[in-house]
Amino acid sequence: MKFFVDTADVAAIRELAELGMADGVTTNPSLILKSGRDIVEVTREICGIVEGPVSAEVVATEAAAMIAEGRRLAAIAPNIAVKLPLTWDGLRACKVLTGEGFMVNVTLCFSVNQALLAAKAGATFVSPFVGRLDDINLDGMQLIAGIRQVYDNYDFRTQILAASIRSVNHVAEAARIGADVMTAPPAVIKALASHPLTDRGLDQFLADWRKTGQKIL
Ligand code: G3P
Repeated sequence: MKFFVDTADVAAIRELAELGMADGVTTNPSLILKSGRDIVEVTREICGIVEGPVSAEVVATEAAAMIAEGRRLAAIAPNIAVKLPLTWDGLRACKVLTGEGFMVNVTLCFSVNQALLAAKAGATFVSPFVGRLDDINLDGMQLIAGIRQVYDNYDFRTQILAASIRSVNHVAEAARIGADVMTAPPAVIKALASHPLTDRGLDQFLADWRKTGQKIL
């Protein structure tokens, strides 16, 4: 499973990229707001840090305007994936932009049927939002599993990008189901390394090592 970093924080992206933990980046208007930076400038910087796809989201809601914004964003760098909302106009824009050879990430997906439409419109990625479904007492992971099954049934090439990933359990579950990609905030990716038994075991080893009185270097 590929790891995308869900942030526009360049320092956090750089740290994860150096470790090989950033196969790509996803941004959205809320994350651009949080960064406090100009969308074109920060997106260009991010595209220089990671080699993989960097999602940049349009804000128009009508297809022709989405297409124009998508072309503008795609011109920032060759690794841009234009992010479009899963609306009828978004699907129309997806068809045109993928036809022009651009990567497209269709976002705000909350149902298997929406994901089916994204695949038929030729999307490179579809982004089902796990955490936001959990927020309203639905099972976000069931959506990932449903999309996986349908895409496999018909051999759709669109990659399932599990988004709105909020916890380490979400990551493990998405990997078990076979999501192609997951995108999570840097803190969630770093938390994957933590386990209380690792901490406890290390404390014990170090305590015993001190008792040996030895040094390695
Ligand atoms: O990639 C989409 C993601 O940013 C949404 O996450 O936590 O705002 O639901 P969240």
